[in-house]
Amino acid sequence: MRLVEALLAAAAAAAGTTALPELETRQAASTITVDVSKTYQTMDGFGFSTAFQRANLITNMADKAKQRQLLDLLFDRATGAGFSIVRTGIGSSPDSSSDHMNTFEPKNPGGPAATPQYQWDGKDSGQLFVCQEAVRTYGVPYIYADAWSAPGFMKTNNNENNGGTLCGMPGTRCASGDWRQAYADYLAAYVRFYREAGVNVTHLGFLNEPEFAASYASMSANGNQAADFIPVLHATLRAANLTDTTGVACCDSEGWGNQVQMLAAIQSAGAEPLLKAVTTHTYTGGASGTMNTKVPVWAAGRARG
Ligand SMILES: *[C@@H]1O[C@H](CO)[C@@H](O)[C@H](O)[C@H]1NC(C)=O
Ligand SMILES: *[C@@H]1O[C@H](CO)[C@@H](O)[C@H](O)[C@H]1NC(C)=O
Repeated sequence: MRLVEALLAAAAAAAGTTALPELETRQAASTITVDVSKTYQTMDGFGFSTAFQRANLITNMADKAKQRQLLDLLFDRATGAGFSIVRTGIGSSPDSSSDHMNTFEPKNPGGPAATPQYQWDGKDSGQLFVCQEAVRTYGVPYIYADAWSAPGFMKTNNNENNGGTLCGMPGTRCASGDWRQAYADYLAAYVRFYREAGVNVTHLGFLNEPEFAASYASMSANGNQAADFIPVLHATLRAANLTDTTGVACCDSEGWGNQVQMLAAIQSAGAEPLLKAVTTHTYTGGASGTMNTKVPVWAAGRARG
């Protein structure tokens, strides 16, 4: 937590608020100098992810006093970390037995034009409760819902795992047809389910580490393929009257350099103005320069203890 605490203290100081006393105590050995007269960039906030059923660890706690203590530690701006972003995982798995992210469309409706059979359970692996608490109780401003993969039946490999690409993206040929609109509808449905439960998803992503075909939920895409889908998703959100609160985020690349390349392809395809955030991870490389965009850039990496 050291880095996070230091950054939070710096952010608090930069915002002109009093540095948090308990952080000062725990960070007694460190000195941070903040020059409030210098402005470099806007910080949207700090956050964490509730994917892979981890939110259930909070949501299913029987001891409600302990649960409140934990939520306070995460979200309270005076006594906790004061996190301001929650990243949910939009599931793709029909398998609810382990750490999979469960989908609300477990069955192929018969084709991309068939009416989808959504099975919303009102829990979303415990993520909805955490988001409701975040928004209602603590005023968390950003909910970033992100899909690691489309449901398997929408993909070239007919599997939520091991990469595979969304059928209909350039370069794909699927006997099952073009699933781009069905996937966009599916993602918009997630936003609607959350909105109906009192949570506005502010950012919506359709990829996670698209250059890494993981043995768990994963979906491959290059920049051209992402650029092809962004207008479809954006138009779908617009038609559903969701763009007042929800914008498209892309692409959660494995590392900064990967995301620089994906963004370049998105820019040359003219899709950049449809983005609300450019998102990246830091596994194959951290921020090594400026991301060439005016769109806010969000970065996520491995938690360090
Ligand atoms: C979500 O957004 C809608 C549309 O802007 C708004 O009417 C509603 O109050 C918002 N809900 C919350 C909980 O902020
Ligand atoms: C979106 O809003 C327009 C204008 O208020 C309305 O006519 C239309 O029915 C809405 N569409 C949906 C899908 O809610």
